[in-house]
Amino acid sequence: MFNARLDGLGDNPFERLSALLGPISPGKPPIVLHLGEPQHPIPGFVAEVLHANRALLGKYPPLDGTPDFRQAVADWLTRRYGLPAGMIEPGRHILPLSGTREGLFMAPLIAVPEKKAGARPAALMPNPFYHAYAGAALAAGAEPVYLPATRAHNFFPDLDAIPERDLARAAVFYLCSPANPQGTVASADYLRRLLALSRRHDFVLLMDECYAEIYTREAPTGTLQIGAETGSLKNVLVFHSLSKRSNAPGLRSGFVAGDPDLIKRFRTLRSYGGSLPPLPTLAASAALWRDEAHVEENRALYRQKFDIAERILGNRFGFYRPGGGFFLWLDVGDSEAVAKHLWASAGVRVLPGHYLTRDVAGEANPGAAYIRLALVDDVTKTEEGLRRVAEAL
Ligand SMILES: Cc1ncc(COP(=O)(O)O)c(C=O)c1O
Repeated sequence: MFNARLDGLGDNPFERLSALLGPISPGKPPIVLHLGEPQHPIPGFVAEVLHANRALLGKYPPLDGTPDFRQAVADWLTRRYGLPAGMIEPGRHILPLSGTREGLFMAPLIAVPEKKAGARPAALMPNPFYHAYAGAALAAGAEPVYLPATRAHNFFPDLDAIPERDLARAAVFYLCSPANPQGTVASADYLRRLLALSRRHDFVLLMDECYAEIYTREAPTGTLQIGAETGSLKNVLVFHSLSKRSNAPGLRSGFVAGDPDLIKRFRTLRSYGGSLPPLPTLAASAALWRDEAHVEENRALYRQKFDIAERILGNRFGFYRPGGGFFLWLDVGDSEAVAKHLWASAGVRVLPGHYLTRDVAGEANPGAAYIRLALVDDVTKTEEGLRRVAEAL
């Protein structure tokens, strides 16, 4: 007995890459550029706070986290996005997550109805996309609708090109800004139009902002700022994580914030099956959200690596300096063939853009000609990896 809805899932991008490169020996000592797993140091106080709170492992974590965690998050959101004081209420607008992936996966369950506008509900998402979105859509009973995100529109879906019938049956719309994999940042104007659309057609915006703190020039606009302009957070949920901001992907800590009615429903659902961060994790997370020094150091390291990338790649392979995140999205031709070649000749593991997309009938695949490089290792290894890539291509 199988749930046929999940037949469309397939292997995730990393499993596909392992299958592609498994039979090939690396041409040089391997350098890993395919995985967005930050290797910068985790702030030292994290281990201290975890240790000091270790006795709390004897308690079940509360659904709402702790008041201290929620206050630290509310203060951070207010500071980071210049929100009106008191707009984010720790008890109404925030829930802790064990990393954003599980929250992004679970969220459609609170929004997807049996039918919308007389049809199967749609989960709109960019193509390419973070693989959890598609799995979540299918698990919740929605049809994933992949909207091409190409250079012509700053690598975001063209909002004017979405068919009316898909807007009408949309239950959720996933968007990631800064975008993974392209690193572009949605403008305030784009977010305003998206928010207006979500309210006109009554769908929920699931805004993945986990790269919001990795930028080398201006701080990316957040969707809560746009909500604040309208005086309401209706239909908006934003997802934030310590995985990228604080180099702590193994801590499994993030949060969701936004529309209090949605948060209330999400809270109820999570009481049945949510993955709740343990109390020591919440204590360490509160300390991380209160500290900006390590985030600034982080940004300085990424800035240094993007400077190096700019020097090595110049204007080749469609290189541009991303507005946010830590990926390069290079236009190289056949992405699978290039990934194999880079591994076999240069020992560099990169992710074929094709694996971050779905083929859509009648449309050119928007990732098939690209590779994604994550600049997450230390400066020396990243520079060596980029040099090898440039030589091999
Ligand atoms: C776009 C995007 N969203 C969400 C996540 C999940 O991050 P986490 O669950 O570690 O918070 C990732 C991780 O790579 C990601 O790239």
